[in-house]
Amino acid sequence: MARHLITSALPYINGIKHLGNMVGSMLPADVYSRYLRQRGHDVLYICATDEHGTPAELAAKEQGLPVDVFCAQAHDAQKAVYDGFDLAFDHFGRSSSPQNVEITQHFARRLHENGFIEERSIRQVYSPADGRFLPDRYVEGTCPHCGYDKARGDQCENCTRVLDPTDLLDPRSAISGSTDLEVRETKHLFLLQSKLQHEVEEWVARHEEEWPHLAASIARKWLTEGLHDRSITRDLDWGVPVPADTWPELAAEGKVFYVWFDAPIEYIAATKEWADSAPDGETRDWRSWWYEADDTVRYTEFMAKDNVPFHTVMFPATQLGVREPWKKVDYVKAFNWLTYYGGKFSTSQKRGVFTDQALDILPADYWRYFLIANAPESDDSSFTWEHFTATVNKDLADTLGNFVNRVLSFSKKRFGEEVPAGGEPGEAETRLGEEIASLLAEYESQMEAKQFRKAAAALRALWSAGNSYLEEKAPWLEIKTDKDGAALTLRTAMNLIRLYAVVSEPFIPATSAAMRQVFSLADDTAAWVSAEEARALTSVPAGTPFTVPPVLFAKLTDDDLDAYKERFGGEPESA
Ligand code: MF3
Ligand code: ZN
Repeated sequence: MARHLITSALPYINGIKHLGNMVGSMLPADVYSRYLRQRGHDVLYICATDEHGTPAELAAKEQGLPVDVFCAQAHDAQKAVYDGFDLAFDHFGRSSSPQNVEITQHFARRLHENGFIEERSIRQVYSPADGRFLPDRYVEGTCPHCGYDKARGDQCENCTRVLDPTDLLDPRSAISGSTDLEVRETKHLFLLQSKLQHEVEEWVARHEEEWPHLAASIARKWLTEGLHDRSITRDLDWGVPVPADTWPELAAEGKVFYVWFDAPIEYIAATKEWADSAPDGETRDWRSWWYEADDTVRYTEFMAKDNVPFHTVMFPATQLGVREPWKKVDYVKAFNWLTYYGGKFSTSQKRGVFTDQALDILPADYWRYFLIANAPESDDSSFTWEHFTATVNKDLADTLGNFVNRVLSFSKKRFGEEVPAGGEPGEAETRLGEEIASLLAEYESQMEAKQFRKAAAALRALWSAGNSYLEEKAPWLEIKTDKDGAALTLRTAMNLIRLYAVVSEPFIPATSAAMRQVFSLADDTAAWVSAEEARALTSVPAGTPFTVPPVLFAKLTDDDLDAYKERFGGEPESA
């Protein structure tokens, strides 16, 4: 049995995420984790808030809060939304944890001992009015490439080019607005990635074949352009401090590590947080997942495409340079963008649907299903309210929800509140069993391959097969002439409901639980269905008591659609 270590890119602390963030990292990681758990694997799904860096400091300042207070609150706010989405993390940590300070400093010391970190003097923007250096987003100005006048010191949001604060034209301080800026010499630590290029190349070559095209091609591109030495410290108050035992001078100047240095290390540190927070009587071994992990540990990372270079090239370079046997990623599942009516979801411009707003409107399962069924896997995909409401109505309300309610209410009316007895499975049931077993095998293989859209299509086909069977047998007619036959049809359909409850769990966990609770079965669990069970469709025997649940999915009306479009805007604003 494999042990599956799963991580999703750590969401930045500076605000509630939109649906595009959700579908490109945490949600598919959760779907995959749930699937593997149901199949009996040992799974550890780890995530955390990414709390350091200038975005955190600036967001705190905007709210008039000390940055540590801001981060604690913002972490809890994000966690509440993820609970609402039924994301079943084993641990949702914080990159500002003491565990991350410890492991990040350890990594830095080892890189230094191994000759991969060097102190260099560089020229940085300094603001006398603010009395400090202005790294990254603390400087704003005009992009030298496209002329956009609100470009930030780390990147131009308009043309997406990566920038250095000293590149900006007409620079100003993002803190005070002061334009009286100078450039001063200061010392920083550089990670000598160029020295690791060859090793990273070899490591990527050994893995890329198995990676999806998107991840492999981005890794290749970065390697072809060459790994550059990179400054890994900043003049900020908030971050993992440079350890004084190794760099007393820089530590005394208050330098901290750059957010992209400590963030991926938090995957490891969050696992230690998980172990350190074990309840009394339970021991959790974080090292066995990460350090000298044996071949049974399989590590899968989920992220959007902009994160791929950091995970396929830069973090592995760090891990290789440490010269200790830390677990490296086996499989990188990368996503394209989910757009909002073809335009960008934008946190800064508040365009699109945010995860907290989504839950205000409808329960998590509506979103979970829609998003995964339309995950931007092979290409970008576009969110529109029209598509969302049509999908909910067709797949969830009609194909699944209506099937469940129709079968159970009709059976209750004609046979009472127990699964009806009578009739012997015949040719139609054999055909159905074959079809279900083969669709289930298709669903499983798409899940194993982490092809989530295709998995959703297979799940939908499983639901449809039940509808076709019901239409074919038409128990509402059968009952008039062949009562036993109608009982058989309904009992078989109820077995499909039970099978749907189990296999839909990764996508729609709350609804699945409600569907499982329909039947009073002894030691009922969501453990996976075997091919034999899928073929036989008899695990829920005649005589099992059942209840008719409330409507599983509400149908969305034209009025709902209009209201959503009114509230969120039905078209992208021109950029
Ligand atoms: N916070 C980053 C983002 O939202 C992702 C960090 S992933 C990690 O793009 F590996 F660094 F943790
Ligand atoms: Zn630009």
